[in-house]
Amino acid sequence: MTERTGAAGRHVPVLRDRIVELLAPALSRPLPDGERPVYVDGTLGMGGHAEAVLTACPEARLVGIDRDTEAIRLAAERLAPFGDRVTLVHARYDEIGEVLADVLADRAADRPDDRAAAGATPGVQAILLDLGVSSLQLDELDRGFAYRVDAPLDMRMDATTGPTAADVLNTYDAAELTRVLRTYGEERFAARIAKAVVRERERAPFTTSARLVELLRDAIPAASQRTGGHPGKRTFQALRIEVNAELASLEVAVPAAVDALAVGGRLAVLSYHSLEDRLVKQALAAGATSTAPPGLPVELPEHRPFLRLVTRGGEEPTEAEVAENSRAASARLRVAERTRPSGPLAERHPAGPRRPDRPHRAPSANRTPAASRRTSSTHPKGTR
Ligand SMILES: C[S@@+](CC[C@H](N)C(=O)[O-])C[C@H]1O[C@@H](n2cnc3c(N)ncnc32)[C@H](O)[C@@H]1O
Repeated sequence: MTERTGAAGRHVPVLRDRIVELLAPALSRPLPDGERPVYVDGTLGMGGHAEAVLTACPEARLVGIDRDTEAIRLAAERLAPFGDRVTLVHARYDEIGEVLADVLADRAADRPDDRAAAGATPGVQAILLDLGVSSLQLDELDRGFAYRVDAPLDMRMDATTGPTAADVLNTYDAAELTRVLRTYGEERFAARIAKAVVRERERAPFTTSARLVELLRDAIPAASQRTGGHPGKRTFQALRIEVNAELASLEVAVPAAVDALAVGGRLAVLSYHSLEDRLVKQALAAGATSTAPPGLPVELPEHRPFLRLVTRGGEEPTEAEVAENSRAASARLRVAERTRPSGPLAERHPAGPRRPDRPHRAPSANRTPAASRRTSSTHPKGTR
């Protein structure tokens, strides 16, 4: 395990300055009744982006969300200088609606003039989702995200709940494993690997990563290993996405985040692989497109787009940034601005208002129940 040093020392946030540049206008417009703009960081991590936004936008207050309790602890240290501008919540980003209702209600109790007290939850001005795994999680070898060292096959971002990568390997049947490896890892040899896993676990269940890596070295043809990078790369990515139900969470989170935006508010999403980016691109494009049926002479207000795309396509980091931080190489940034109110999107989502409940074998295990959600501030409650 790496030493748990100060968060600020070990992380360079991807596209930090560009994200600040794109979110700052939404956090700098004057609000009615002297209200302070709210920035929601749905993937707080070590607080790098949050620190940059709070520094650039001195009026803004932060609601920081992360499903990883260790990230919350380290970010709280880093953001302590911002005092009562910071509220941190242990939750998943797809729970943004519930989190904001709780946090704004807390604030309403402290400040009876808050609009939330009157039953109207004010929308927020900016939201960032910086998806995927953090350097903190990769560096903490005992959490099992890294394939280059032998470690327990865990890979849960929220280590307090849910099945581990070992549970997936030891319980999914060959067809389910093949689907996971093919879909989330884009692994060409998914079926062959899945068969080998099922055969190998008969001898003894999988517990640590070295045995899995050894199996992958045997199952993937040598020629592909010479060209396709480390044999563990795609399988580990697939297991991580499955264990954390990452795509299901994102599918719910994007419409929920758009719902949470005030008019003029901006949502920024930074994704690291094509499955995530495609999902974000489609959700934002749908909001930026008129739903008027073809042939209608006049576009009715409810058919008008409720989003404006601020970035053109997915913005990429510069070569200089990638040279300094190789993790930035696959990053794509998409930003959209809310242009008008609309009915709740999360409920109109094609899949309905469902919860991200995969892995299949533990339908509700991955959820952070409201009762166990932990809100903390960098200041004692009541001093705001
Ligand atoms: C790439 S890191 C974010 C780094 C952060 N922007 C910074 O500057 O330090 C992603 C973080 O998102 C968290 N995360 C991933 N999926 C999540 C989810 N569904 N809900 C909440 N947090 C999530 C991870 O635990 C991790 O800490």
